[in-house]
Amino acid sequence: MERFPFADGFHDADDALHCGGIPVADIAADCGTPLYLYNLDAIAARYRSYEDAFTEVEHLTCYAVKANASLAVLRALARAGSGFDVNSRGELYRALRAGADPSRVTMTGVGKTRQDIDDGLAAGILLFNAESVEECVRIDEVARNRGVVATVVLRINPDVDAHTHPYIATGLAEHKFGLSAADAEAAIARIASLEHVRLAGFGMHLGSMLFDAGPWVEGVRTLLAFIERVRPSLRHPVTHLNIGGGIGVPYGDAPVDFGPGALVAAIAPLLPRGVRLLSEPGRFLVANAGVLLARAEYIKRNNQRSFLILDAGMNDLIRPALYEAYHEIRPVQLHPGRAIVPYDVVGPVCESGDTFAVQRRMQEVREGELVAIFSAGAYGSSMSSTYNSRPLAAEAVLENGAWRLARARQTLEQLTENEHPAQE
Ligand code: LLP
Repeated sequence: MERFPFADGFHDADDALHCGGIPVADIAADCGTPLYLYNLDAIAARYRSYEDAFTEVEHLTCYAVKANASLAVLRALARAGSGFDVNSRGELYRALRAGADPSRVTMTGVGKTRQDIDDGLAAGILLFNAESVEECVRIDEVARNRGVVATVVLRINPDVDAHTHPYIATGLAEHKFGLSAADAEAAIARIASLEHVRLAGFGMHLGSMLFDAGPWVEGVRTLLAFIERVRPSLRHPVTHLNIGGGIGVPYGDAPVDFGPGALVAAIAPLLPRGVRLLSEPGRFLVANAGVLLARAEYIKRNNQRSFLILDAGMNDLIRPALYEAYHEIRPVQLHPGRAIVPYDVVGPVCESGDTFAVQRRMQEVREGELVAIFSAGAYGSSMSSTYNSRPLAAEAVLENGAWRLARARQTLEQLTENEHPAQE
């Protein structure tokens, strides 16, 4: 049995990829491709390992729903006891449908609408992670209309370099997120004076794919120093500190030795008493527990290159096109004796960017055979689209050792059902 650092709950046995104990080829034969497959048992285990790391600290883990918003994934995490961080009323709707406890739900986002805020208040969520003075004023107004007081954690942008891809770094001064310590300090009296807002703490989110605790330590120090400076202007005690998400995972063969244990060890000594630590892991919980299964439609030779043309495209998984992200790609069934050859692994979409890998060496693949794209559990399905009028892929899950379809493939009728092509 062979296990891989980039696959959580998937392994090779008899030269075939398995999820739990089941050959993934059996699942793909039933559901068709492209198919997302998630191992919910692995996600629950991952959640427990995350929780274990935080046991010594008063805390609440709010899974970042944006990473994977499948109801089946949310339900598995809700059952395991997770809270949820939602970035829209749509994500809130999903979390509640999946059985989330609203008192363990937070709402984030730099552009919350009145409707987002009102939905959050109606559901009785724990708090809003607010990003500006204007948003605090709006939350106050919406809460006043409902006759309630909204709990708010203000996001500070600590201007810390997280050393990650520029598209997924969020904690630098130039970013749209949060308020700089100086701007927040100038506005704090105004926010604290809002009668329908209870300013209960401060937070940050530095970026995604972080592999050491340094940026968090720097950020927490900045937050705590900020809190000391503004304390005289606050009307309520500081009860919450949000450190965001961002723990990285392996996408390739090199194992990663950073995780929640090292993060907690680094920041726990800094934390004041009586403060509840919020965190928002997304990728860490789900990325490696998902694969995208696709079939080889064609193996095409052109100008000395071999193109492995899959039935999955950039509309299904956009990370390689958007971030030049690396994903492991392997045939689902290995055949001893077949040659190792370089492929440009591409999809059927009419864009050169519809490329999963360039000159990637793997065992020879033949038309009709299955290929697995690994580490597709985070920001895969949740970022997919119907570009080229390609229906959204099906999703299957493995839970308690058995598999089931979690989302049927979108039909062509569903693709167009909300359109009104002619005047009626
Ligand atoms: N909290 C906030 C406020 C966030 O904006 C994010 C991610 C998270 C938590 C979760 O971060 P994680 O633990 O998953 O790193 N689409 C990109 C990643 C974008 C991340 C956006 N925010 C990708 O595919 O790499």
